[in-house]
Amino acid sequence: MTGRIIGIGAYVPKKVMTNDDFAKILDTSDEWITERTGIKERHFADHITEKPSTMAVAAAKKAIEDAGIDPKDIDLIVVACTTPDLVIPTMSCVVQKEIGAKEDCGCFDVSSACPGFIAAYNTVQSFIESGNAKTALCIGSECNTNFCNFEDRGTCILFGDGAGAVVVRADENCKRNEFIMRSDGSRADCLTCEAARQPDRWDEEGFKEATSFYMQGREVFKFAVTEVPRLIKDLSEKYNFDLEKDVDLFILHQANSRIIEATAKKLGIGIEKFPMNIMKYGNISSASIPILLSELKAEGKLKPGMKLVLASFGAGLTWNANYITY
Ligand code: UT7
Repeated sequence: MTGRIIGIGAYVPKKVMTNDDFAKILDTSDEWITERTGIKERHFADHITEKPSTMAVAAAKKAIEDAGIDPKDIDLIVVACTTPDLVIPTMSCVVQKEIGAKEDCGCFDVSSACPGFIAAYNTVQSFIESGNAKTALCIGSECNTNFCNFEDRGTCILFGDGAGAVVVRADENCKRNEFIMRSDGSRADCLTCEAARQPDRWDEEGFKEATSFYMQGREVFKFAVTEVPRLIKDLSEKYNFDLEKDVDLFILHQANSRIIEATAKKLGIGIEKFPMNIMKYGNISSASIPILLSELKAEGKLKPGMKLVLASFGAGLTWNANYITY
């Protein structure tokens, strides 16, 4: 059996940071950010009540409510996060406790930067397909602002915080999970964060830079607009489906509207099939895809039986794509 998504939930922090807010602290403008990225605003966690673990719990509770299941039905929790507030315990164990899941529920986290949600989704599907789980919770939660250098205008304006979750349940009528996962560690230096933050070392020379995202933006952009369309084409060939006729929506990682537009153009598919919410949230790494799914469902744009391509890319470099029936 393979799993079907039966519930979706999301949490975004209350504080909104607009492009004009950035223009007050950096040499930038609403015009530059909008034109180059599509982003108008993003949400920033308060780091007290809103942390990756608490946002993961909030999104998970909404997904469980949406699925209409008892948390005791869940036998696997996998959280994708690259910006955790805790080293141990794993965030999945925090979620397990807070939602009241049972004791023999397997819990672990995965770290794969922006494509982390797809890595977590493929992991829970592998557990379901091997008969080791029936109902799984798969979460992407990120507090990117923990790792932004707010003096680096080329990077900090891109990111936001938030969490998204899906409940995946074994379904005998579901086709096998269809995906491709790719990585190229030789290009790792395009997007890095060298060390974990330690407040007592903050004033050491170079420490702030080493503990912040460092990104060669143009290189990541070129990688994304080359590899993502190629990956989606390869996915359609591997699983024998037609990109025009057999896909209702392309749910891409929300990193830059120009990357999404270039992908649509290279594939020859109308941009209306590529929903976006990047203007409101910026790049929320592994949370971007489940948050978008949650919004589409709330707006009535995601209907049972729809065929979706999910695709993400980011640090590693890593890029993944799935072909799923919702
Ligand atoms: O989740 C996956 C990871 N990340 C990504 O997907 C990001 C991929 N990359 C991008 O989205 C784009 O490369 C950026 C949005 C980061 C940058 O856009 P760009 O069109 O590639 O700009 P650029 O880095 O080539 O910079 C162009 C100019 C530079 O000035 P000069 O050297 O031409 O005078 C930058 O200094 O824009 C300047 N610039 C800015 N100006 C105003 C860079 N950031 C800003 C800013 N405001 N925030």
